[in-house]
Amino acid sequence: MYSSSKATMQTEQLVDQYSRTISYLRLSITDRCNLRCLYCMPQQGLNSSSLVKCADLLSYEEMLRIVGIAVGMGMNKLRLTGGEPLVRNGVMDFIRSLAEIKGLEDIRLTTNGVLLHEKAAELYSAGIRNLNISLDTMKPKRFVEITGSDLFDQVWRGIQTACDLGFNVKLNMVAMKGINDDEFADFARLATQRPVQVRFIEFMPIGNKESWDRSRFISAGELKDIFSTLGTLESSPGSRLEGPARVYRLTTPDGQTGRIGFISPISHHFCDKCNRLRLTSEGRLRACLLHDHETDLKTILRQGGTDSDIQAAIRQTILSKPKGHTLQDDLAGPGQVNCQGQMSRIGG
Ligand code: 5AD
Ligand code: SF4
Repeated sequence: MYSSSKATMQTEQLVDQYSRTISYLRLSITDRCNLRCLYCMPQQGLNSSSLVKCADLLSYEEMLRIVGIAVGMGMNKLRLTGGEPLVRNGVMDFIRSLAEIKGLEDIRLTTNGVLLHEKAAELYSAGIRNLNISLDTMKPKRFVEITGSDLFDQVWRGIQTACDLGFNVKLNMVAMKGINDDEFADFARLATQRPVQVRFIEFMPIGNKESWDRSRFISAGELKDIFSTLGTLESSPGSRLEGPARVYRLTTPDGQTGRIGFISPISHHFCDKCNRLRLTSEGRLRACLLHDHETDLKTILRQGGTDSDIQAAIRQTILSKPKGHTLQDDLAGPGQVNCQGQMSRIGG
């Protein structure tokens, strides 16, 4: 296993030009996925030229080295994303190696849930406690329309298994008018019926852009108005710690409570609190999901870069982190968006 020089390195804080402390790394470990969500990938599938070549994906060793160095520099939270992270061979051993990195306090995973029933127990014993599971519908037929696969039951079973094992589960629903709007209330109620937080994500014109159009967009504010008819909504204490989500406690008239969150990249920027850096599946460090500027860490690594070369590249990328994205203005204009990248490569 890779052992980094972190033990001897002074932990510092990584602060960008706008005084934001960068402590959270999102790692896309593969661009491959066993689903084809309409907002993410073309449903007929990706042709081989749009997939990252295997040799161009970072190896686990390379990722461990980068994470070790980043943690030594002050990052302490990691999220594994994809594509679908659970489809990459050897992911469990990789997670166990990550868990040995001193100073890495928290490893989380975002998954589409397809392989969760099979792998949840192993994930738990590897030390993962927090799962974000993508689920945009609870209707099996619609699940096929959105993801291209008839796997709703399998995903649902995975969600139940994860809850039974004691994971903290957040369900991420991309809210799309005309696609799943008749289920918004059911999803909010689900948070009062099961031990899950349900988070509604504003549909963004990135990834598979052909699937986006203004008429499908619904803002978090509009959703909140819908949910306030289901019961009372109170701002949830501690929601500052929930990253980009604004979290509310929903109490229904029959006294059931649950937590629902809103992620509103378009209507309400959270850029001023953004603490993230992303590493794409092919080893490019990206300071902002919605800006395509990337630093090619893989080349530095494969050309024999030293730990301090990598540290310098990480610092440099953090200093290039933009103050915020311009999605709202971009949409008000000709509709061109700065992010041309593929979500399955960047990891959302
Ligand atoms: N808009 C909003 N959320 C998206 N995701 C992917 N593409 C989009 C998009 N265009 C989110 C989904 C998915 C996660 C990996 O990224 O919630 O579950
Ligand atoms: Fe796969 Fe996630 Fe993209 Fe859906 S959104 S196709 S689950 S990577």
